[in-house]
Amino acid sequence: MVKGHVPYDEQAAAAAMDSISAMAVKLPAMFPYGSESGEGTRASPAIWQNFADFSAYISRLQATASAAATAAPNGPAAFAPAYDALAATCKACHAAYRVNPAGEPDPLAAP
Ligand code: HEC
Repeated sequence: MVKGHVPYDEQAAAAAMDSISAMAVKLPAMFPYGSESGEGTRASPAIWQNFADFSAYISRLQATASAAATAAPNGPAAFAPAYDALAATCKACHAAYRVNPAGEPDPLAAP
């Protein structure tokens, strides 16, 4: 939608951003202490050494997602920069806190 492959749909854009924002609120509970290792986790142990910093990324995720939801009804020109800010937050947290033992590409690295 942002890349212009499908027509801009302000309701779909707003709904998607709202669901990311709602999910972000629940994220801290999904990274409990003690879940540092186990079944194919890509979560870096650094998360639990810097939980305040990790939580700050979650707050940024929530803020940028809700800003993008707010921008969505104003059309693609308003939505695109808000979406870029959100995507930059995804990538920054992955760069800091998502490890990749198997060396496979990051799910966000796809073109
Ligand atoms: C606060 C840090 C943080 C933010 C922000 C973040 N992620 Fe992640 N993400 C992670 C971590 C850590 C993992 C690895 C979790 C694991 O393997 O247990 C992950 C895993 C993923 C995965 C792989 C899931 C899987 O089943 O392997 C996808 C896809 C993903 N994130 C997409 C996103 C998208 C899209 C955004 C932005 C809307 C985003 N992430 C924002 C930390 C973050």
